[in-house]
Amino acid sequence: MDYGVQTTILKIMQQLKTWWKEEVIYQIYPRSFKDSNGDGIGDLQGIISKLDYLKNLGVDIIWLSPIYKSPNDDNGYDISDYYDIHPEFGTMADFDELLAGLHSRGMKLIMDLVVNHTSDEHEWFQDAKRSKDSKYRDYYIWKDGKDGKEPNNWPSFFGGSAWKYNEATDDYYLHLFTEKQPDLNWENPAVRDSICDILKFWLDKGINGFRMDVIPLISKRLEFADAQYDMLNEIIEHVYSNGPKVHTYINEMYERVLKNYDIMTVGEGPGINTEVGLKYVGHDRGELNMIFHLDHMFLGHGEFGKFDPVPYDWSDVKRIFSDWDEAMGDSGWISIFLDNHDFPRLVSRFGNDEDYRKKSAKLLATMVLTLRGTPCIYQGSELGMTNVHFDSIDDYKDVETHNFHEEFKKKGVSTEEFLKLVHENGRDNVRTPMQWNAEKHAGFTDGEPWIKVNPNYTEINAEAAIAEGRGSILEFYKMMLEFRKRNKTFIYGSFEIIPQESKNLFFYKRSDENDTFIVMLNHSDEEEMVDFDMSDYIFVVSNQEYGKVNILQPWEARILKLRKD
Ligand code: GLC
Ligand code: CA
Repeated sequence: MDYGVQTTILKIMQQLKTWWKEEVIYQIYPRSFKDSNGDGIGDLQGIISKLDYLKNLGVDIIWLSPIYKSPNDDNGYDISDYYDIHPEFGTMADFDELLAGLHSRGMKLIMDLVVNHTSDEHEWFQDAKRSKDSKYRDYYIWKDGKDGKEPNNWPSFFGGSAWKYNEATDDYYLHLFTEKQPDLNWENPAVRDSICDILKFWLDKGINGFRMDVIPLISKRLEFADAQYDMLNEIIEHVYSNGPKVHTYINEMYERVLKNYDIMTVGEGPGINTEVGLKYVGHDRGELNMIFHLDHMFLGHGEFGKFDPVPYDWSDVKRIFSDWDEAMGDSGWISIFLDNHDFPRLVSRFGNDEDYRKKSAKLLATMVLTLRGTPCIYQGSELGMTNVHFDSIDDYKDVETHNFHEEFKKKGVSTEEFLKLVHENGRDNVRTPMQWNAEKHAGFTDGEPWIKVNPNYTEINAEAAIAEGRGSILEFYKMMLEFRKRNKTFIYGSFEIIPQESKNLFFYKRSDENDTFIVMLNHSDEEEMVDFDMSDYIFVVSNQEYGKVNILQPWEARILKLRKD
């Protein structure tokens, strides 16, 4: 056999069974995790002080939201120096200590790679905006105005136009996010060289991979034609995402850098649907290991996005998970998650954070840890932390919330009305400080936190969960993380939906040559009859006291295992 073909086959085989399918990711939002020096801002030393907590929980891979130097317009997703640590978070020495601390505990670290755009304070942009002759001019995307207005009708993700006028050069630059986040021009080979250098720098430090921010957006449709869609989500899917060279560019990073390291990559996937998913993550593609598709995250978003809610129900969620599983088959892989730093708390959105907070949090944990894909847990989910309802718009810090507040005001929506939308869908719901104990500011900081703590911290916090022991959400996560590790069927086994009449019920089978498991989830406040012959099965996991065999109690999650004799 041809040597090239042989190595390719070997690589594919290796990809089929690999650590990044078996391990579990835990996302840290550094600003809100733990403050070590009383300035009210979470930092690297704070994370270091909690490494034993994370190890004890049983997660394997820590994904750090951006910690690079940044003016913080979008909390670090606007990077001004890819080679330095944001001073509020610490120093490069702190970073090295964190990485060593994780590795010595047998854990891994992945960094957030934000290269669709930089900060406008990055030296490339500072130079580029000064003159058309700047050597960095082509690092960004410039267009002349049309009849004294923006070059086209593209909206920014965060409200307003995606173009900003630059006086010195009398033209506009593209920013799909805030105007302090100018988009990079990937057409320019120098940009791609610079990005490969960044990748190498961090990988040579020994990190274990990257989460790639809005990666399907890097290749632009160069006609820059007006978007012909009304729905923001459609514009994202058809105009911003999946551009003509996106796969060429991702493959280039892979060939030039990524393939030389034993790492994992997960792409954030706005606009990636089941039809194109495999192009990003197919095992034979030489692109990414997995994606975070956002189909279930965008559920309930209307024409103008998250602050324009429309109804949806569990049948939509089930359909999305089953469609994605089918789309991936044996050829690709996704990550399974129900929240992150951009969306509401999972228990508030998909569970019932009032009457059934603990049970529904445990049910959602069961789901995240038993579907097929690499689970990703967002900080605080293991405590059942909930959305927050601040009464004043000033208590909110997110640039997205404030930009849309201004837009809605112009449309005549009162602040009071707008706040209701923010309570449901604002990103600060998940950005309030981690709740460590019942002391002042939840033990997050000795100073004044950069954003207020959720007032329910006196009840919901890590110390209380540890004291509660068995029965706590935290213990349930630990148990489920161990259970998943012991039972590889949940990693490599097949996945099959067991159809149910009731939209509240989500039943599926995971099976391989060793075992067959049935996962039964009742996503509702009601009892539901079970229409499934359980006589050949034993009960192995439940998130509550067993009641009647044939009835699932509200928010009950059960795992059954096929008897072997
Ligand atoms: C991604 C990030 C989000 C950020 C945006 C722009 O969606 O997850 O937090 O605001 O990209 O970088
Ligand atoms: Ca600090």
